[in-house]
Amino acid sequence: VTRTSALIDPDGGALVELVAPPSDREALTQEASTLPSISLKQIDIEWVHVLSEGWASPLKGFMRENEYLQCLHFNCLKMEDGSVVNMSLPIVLSITDQEKESIGAKESVALLGPSGGPVAILRRIEIYPHNKEERIARTWGCTAPGLPYVEEAITPAGNWLIGGDLQVIEPIKYNDGLDHYRLSPHQLRDEFDKREADAVFAFQLRNPVHNGHALLMNDTRRRLLEMGYKNPILLLHPLGGFVKADDVPLDVRMEQHKKVLEDGVLDPETTLVGIFPSPMHYAGPTEVQWHAKARINAGANFYIVGRDPAGMGHPTEKRDLYNPDHGKKVLSMAPGLEKLNILPFKVAAYDTVAKKMAFFDPSRSQDFLFISGTKMRNFAKSGENPPDGFMCPGGWKILVDYYTSLQSE
Ligand code: ADX
Repeated sequence: VTRTSALIDPDGGALVELVAPPSDREALTQEASTLPSISLKQIDIEWVHVLSEGWASPLKGFMRENEYLQCLHFNCLKMEDGSVVNMSLPIVLSITDQEKESIGAKESVALLGPSGGPVAILRRIEIYPHNKEERIARTWGCTAPGLPYVEEAITPAGNWLIGGDLQVIEPIKYNDGLDHYRLSPHQLRDEFDKREADAVFAFQLRNPVHNGHALLMNDTRRRLLEMGYKNPILLLHPLGGFVKADDVPLDVRMEQHKKVLEDGVLDPETTLVGIFPSPMHYAGPTEVQWHAKARINAGANFYIVGRDPAGMGHPTEKRDLYNPDHGKKVLSMAPGLEKLNILPFKVAAYDTVAKKMAFFDPSRSQDFLFISGTKMRNFAKSGENPPDGFMCPGGWKILVDYYTSLQSE
């Protein structure tokens, strides 16, 4: 049966898929054993996963210098026909001086997983200097010590970057009981088509779902129905890669999201839950463009954005790292994202009069309570309940159990 899809086109026109067919695996494994090799760290594997499934389409591998420069300076990649696609985060692989030496003049390298086995081959490689300070300054707009991804994956990294075309030997799996949630852009598109979605609206998150988040999602659905769409589908899309140490771990968040659907805060009939395999940078307005762009490739044509997306507190000063309104402003203007409908939202907070999460009304600001991640953690740790209507009881219990387990460690 041929199905015509009503979904938005992927960036570059066709979804990039870099996993080799099963019939090629043996030959590729054999070839990998003859090549110089690089050992991948966990975050590198997450990027291999992202690239392999085409979340970064039309990118076909770790960035070569030309792509890296366009990304850093323009947050975009230029296509051969002169059009641009958005690409705001460098997807790069670093290597050490010794690794560079061992590669010599070879054209291909094998990328090894944590068990030492080959995961992928990088072809037609290019090696160029990794100016870490410049990369950090241009991506985060901040070089203060304590930026999470920087500390984890850039400061300790090698002085060189290696780009090339990626060929992945078999699909990346984590065997953590959550792989069934890790739907690729291809699988998501198939599912949206199967459900005959006439609009797909994506919600990126890295935190547990509270009723403020739900307000944004349910309000979007209402607006789409008003606009005349008959079958809008919500992609509830938690980020599954690296997150900072005090964020809630993925397995706990997935349990929490399950409860939110079971408790009917979101409609299970019109919601699809998947895991977005990217690691988190916490680079605010720069990163939110990546979050949105990747969802185009997964078939979403509407993107919800609220307060301070991909933001965090400044690592050394008592303030937000980014202006909390800049994420949605930048997203609404970003080159290469014109075809995506951005749905910007005001901040939601707990309305102590209405006793529910509501859009903040500055004319009666004294009635509103802002419940930050820290405040939420403190409630959960102390066994105190957050105010009624902040989060569904089932979802809250998952968090209490998690924070209690942390205390007894
Ligand atoms: S993020 O790093 O994935 O952006 P988070 O999970 O906190 O962080 O947020 C997910 C989405 O919800 C983002 O679009 C963010 O702007 C939005 N958001 C989070 N909290 C609020 C809030 N209180 N009011 C409005 N929007 C919010």
